[in-house]
Amino acid sequence: MKNLINIKSLKNDEILEITELAEYYEKNVPQGLHKRKQTGSAALLFFENSTRTRFSFEMASKKLGFDIFNFDAQKSSILKGEGFFDTLNNLNAIGCDIAVIRHSREGFIEELVNKDYAYGLGIINAGEGKSAHPTQALLDFYTLKKHLGDVKGKKIVIVGDIIHSRVAKSNIELLSRFGAHVVCASPDYFEDWSQTNAKYEANINIALKDADAVMGLRIQKERLENQIPLANYIKDYQINETNMPENAILMHPGPVNRDVEISSTLLDSQKGRVIIEQARNGVFVRMAVLDLIYKGLRA
Ligand code: CP
Repeated sequence: MKNLINIKSLKNDEILEITELAEYYEKNVPQGLHKRKQTGSAALLFFENSTRTRFSFEMASKKLGFDIFNFDAQKSSILKGEGFFDTLNNLNAIGCDIAVIRHSREGFIEELVNKDYAYGLGIINAGEGKSAHPTQALLDFYTLKKHLGDVKGKKIVIVGDIIHSRVAKSNIELLSRFGAHVVCASPDYFEDWSQTNAKYEANINIALKDADAVMGLRIQKERLENQIPLANYIKDYQINETNMPENAILMHPGPVNRDVEISSTLLDSQKGRVIIEQARNGVFVRMAVLDLIYKGLRA
């Protein structure tokens, strides 16, 4: 592994290798981490807002002993007209081994991976437009395995804004490959029929029946082209203490629009704890991804 473009670019055994290494890191916190120093360095280049992904990559890098550099586009030579490839090639020449990139344009990460960097640069997709958020799907898979044992044969219901969600797309790809039954529950204006590995059920109560896990999604106001009937959405699709199945786990990639996709009462109850655990698991999974890519670059 020298890059992480999307879930499609990963083989199943690579996905399992990531989750196994993440488990090693989780079990060896904190004593193992500082001893196991690496010499790599990573640059974080975020062109869209982030809290969880950015901080957990930074935390993961620090725990691995990587040097970490935050790229500030507003203070960089991109504002003097320098292109993205030239920027990355120079960061690589200066000593960055891995670039962790979040960007709004679909296909951008793959284009960058296919360039020829003078000293070899690993690139990790930290969220790309509406299309892919592979490390989120990997940490969701890790979280699901911890709670459900295995996702094979399990019913995972994804509720809400599927069409704008890179998290939903990466999760549908990954979970269906590992034998989960993925059901999407959303109003027609949020459906994405290109996601053929999932079933659709417009009625949330039917969708949630016998679910093993329920994954809420944020309504991505910044990507909406038209207003949506929010009051109706909340009435028909909010996950709350009335419709949440008792035996299912509740997940959400964050950030949560409180009282929109999930009620505050449910979020603040014991059921909401797994959502916070997802953020924690993100550190171990991103440690594993950084470690494997760094080793791949050196091999
Ligand atoms: N889940 C996720 O990508 O959160 P951030 O946008 O805060 O990184």
